[in-house]
Amino acid sequence: ANLTQDDLKKLAAYKAVEYVGSNMVIGLGTGSTAKHAVDRIGELLRQGKLKNIIGIPTSKKTHEQAFSLGIPLSDLDSNPAVDIAIDGADEVDPYLNLVKGRGGSLLREKMIEGACKKFIVIVDESKLVEHLGGSGLAMPVEIVPFCWKFTAERLRKLFKDSGCSAELRTCPEKNGEPFLTDNGNYIINLYFKKDLGDLKAASDAILRLPGVVEHGMFLDMATTLITAGQLGVTVKNK
Ligand code: A5P
Repeated sequence: ANLTQDDLKKLAAYKAVEYVGSNMVIGLGTGSTAKHAVDRIGELLRQGKLKNIIGIPTSKKTHEQAFSLGIPLSDLDSNPAVDIAIDGADEVDPYLNLVKGRGGSLLREKMIEGACKKFIVIVDESKLVEHLGGSGLAMPVEIVPFCWKFTAERLRKLFKDSGCSAELRTCPEKNGEPFLTDNGNYIINLYFKKDLGDLKAASDAILRLPGVVEHGMFLDMATTLITAGQLGVTVKNK
């Protein structure tokens, strides 16, 4: 039988958890794929197959999930040396550069995943792209709420040659109010008609704008990619 997309997410997540051992500090990702990894870690802990681990959640949502599973939790202040992090992604290019943050948790994810020795990205094959920004879907940028329209316009102008448009992320379920990140910020979704070219230059240009907190491109951070497809699970190391 054909596997559903959620089956594939679970396969990738379970494979990644094979890299987790007792006594590790583990960055716990956010989103529908990472959720399976957190469930699995909770299960192995309950079964006594993992012992003495500490989870560092990348969002309030993951914190809640991990807490309810009885995973001991901490943060980067108390545990700055993270052994391994496991998280999903929205897009992955052939060099293991990522777009993340469509779940809105990019800042905490980047802080934690930038601090770990091994960062395993788990995806189903639909997330693989040739060029970041090339899926036609959003590239999120977290900005401070103060004069957000001004910042959104500056972001759009930065990439006008790539046919960029910039939209404030809103919550349809809350009458279209702005979406608030765990850090109380807004998200601007950038859309591109053409690929971004030099990603490092794009990253630097975004981060130079006052008002920008962080963006969803994770360049040169992932060390391992686990992809699940109908034909099986593959592991690619950087
Ligand atoms: C959360 O902010 C994101 O970075 C997620 O890791 C990303 O959106 C992937 O989520 P899914 O696993 O739900 O596709």
